[in-house]
Amino acid sequence: MLTITLNGTPRDIRSSPDTPLLYVLRDELGLNAAKYGCGLGQCGACTVILDGDAIFSCITPVMLAADREVTTLEGLGTVEHPGPLQKAFIDEQAAQCGYCIPGMMMRAKALLDKVPVVSDALIREELQPNLCRCGTHMRILRAIQRAAKAVATSTTADVAP
Ligand code: FES
Repeated sequence: MLTITLNGTPRDIRSSPDTPLLYVLRDELGLNAAKYGCGLGQCGACTVILDGDAIFSCITPVMLAADREVTTLEGLGTVEHPGPLQKAFIDEQAAQCGYCIPGMMMRAKALLDKVPVVSDALIREELQPNLCRCGTHMRILRAIQRAAKAVATSTTADVAP
């Protein structure tokens, strides 16, 4: 059995070590924010953060996450208390069908954790691996900038994007 730290909490994993992390998150651990899109590392719907980096959980065997930190959208906030990125996406109405949005937010989170003040050009470049078929790209861009500004102007410690 292996252990991952999921949204700050150690979790023992019963699935086979070669099971994709996405399946472990959704089927074993019941966290459904990360989505199955292509299963091939080509759409970004399954994006989560592993030790600070955005990864495709559909093509990442769970054994590669052993003894490491995994963050999913569920780790950024709740319906009652959304985190800055979640609140910004809501405020900008950045979702249409919404299927890509968890992955978009996780890739944005990884970016803003490394580059708190970010240009539109860098956001566009970093989010290239994440596809949106509805075409809300400009709203997504605005939402990420809104979240970055919210964090930058906040004086409390509980608003990491
Ligand atoms: Fe993982 Fe498409 S489902 S990249």
